[in-house]
Amino acid sequence: MTLRLATAGESHGPALVAIVTGLPAGLELERPAIDADLRRRQEGYGRSPRQQIEQDSVEVLAGLRHGRTLGTPLALVVRNVDHKNWTWGMAPWPPEGEPVGKGTKPVTLPRPGHADLPGVLKYGHQDVRNALERASARHTAVHVAAGAVAKALLATIGIVVRGATVDEEALRTAIDEARADRDTAGGVVEVRATGVPPGLGSYAAKEDRLDARLAAALMGIQAVKGVEIGDGFALAGLRGSQAHDEIRPNRRRETNRAGGIEAGVSNGEEIVARAAMKPLPTLMKPLRTIDLETGEEAAALVERSDVAAVEALAVVAEAAVAWELAVAAHEKFGGDAIGDFVAAHEAYLDRIRWR
Ligand SMILES: Cc1cc2nc3c(=O)[nH]c(=O)nc-3n(C[C@H](O)[C@H](O)[C@H](O)COP(=O)(O)O)c2cc1C
Repeated sequence: MTLRLATAGESHGPALVAIVTGLPAGLELERPAIDADLRRRQEGYGRSPRQQIEQDSVEVLAGLRHGRTLGTPLALVVRNVDHKNWTWGMAPWPPEGEPVGKGTKPVTLPRPGHADLPGVLKYGHQDVRNALERASARHTAVHVAAGAVAKALLATIGIVVRGATVDEEALRTAIDEARADRDTAGGVVEVRATGVPPGLGSYAAKEDRLDARLAAALMGIQAVKGVEIGDGFALAGLRGSQAHDEIRPNRRRETNRAGGIEAGVSNGEEIVARAAMKPLPTLMKPLRTIDLETGEEAAALVERSDVAAVEALAVVAEAAVAWELAVAAHEKFGGDAIGDFVAAHEAYLDRIRWR
């Protein structure tokens, strides 16, 4: 069965939900490991006070018994603690009583760079909130929870995935400067995966190529506007003789410019992927926009927001890469029970050992 992930949830709604199907039975999950990743996503330089208000924690509603998967759909929930301030504004059913709390007035001032304008045009909303609530990166919380599950699966075959920011010191300086100017900042993150066997992915179709899948997964995260695998963009300026990784005896490579993927297939080297994040679109000194009610020029919506979320992106990108690698590994090794998955991986390593 293919590993699949579906999510639901609005930023200030009652909860975020993820349903993971296709997991082998018997996989051990640890709640503290999932919660630790949720916490890592919330920390990070430049994030808004919302992260202090809410301390995310995972609940499991189905698919797990006594810490082991049952081979049935796994249902994960992360509650929005802040929903208590939005019970009227984000009520799923028509609310009773007088409007109270946040989200009671329609938002009509779309922020440039956010989902606000394309969202209301596409779905026919009057209130920008109907678009921004789902577009918000708040929902990356359940992706991180699903990524922690993927990492547990990958760990059974020795794959470790880790995301980090690139050039931490320069990033923090840029964030400080942006905060002082009441502006926002972006940055670059890098995800590395070790222990990936050769042979995940395939050559031709974009649905199969591992590089294409990682790129789509990373570009699928809010505010990511550029992705590279290995030396990526820099390779375009090199000669072929400088750009490729020579194959030495025992399949050893002395360089890893390809970032662990050749022809859409993992080659056994460390997988290296980078993602570039644009500066966040919610500005305390707002850009110009139009009021959707009057058509007049106006200043864009100002709402509590991060100055930067690059360190958080490192955690979200780690989860996205872990998820894609778990899908590709499960596709290759299969298994309804975790022991089948591990045994298939071992048998495969035995088969390719002679080369
Ligand atoms: C972890 C994370 C946190 C984010 N936090 C904010 C935020 O506080 N304010 C904001 O305006 N955008 C934030 N964003 C970015 C917006 O969600 C994103 O720019 C918006 O949904 C439009 O999508 P696009 O940038 O991919 O075009 C965040 C993104 C990520 C990955």
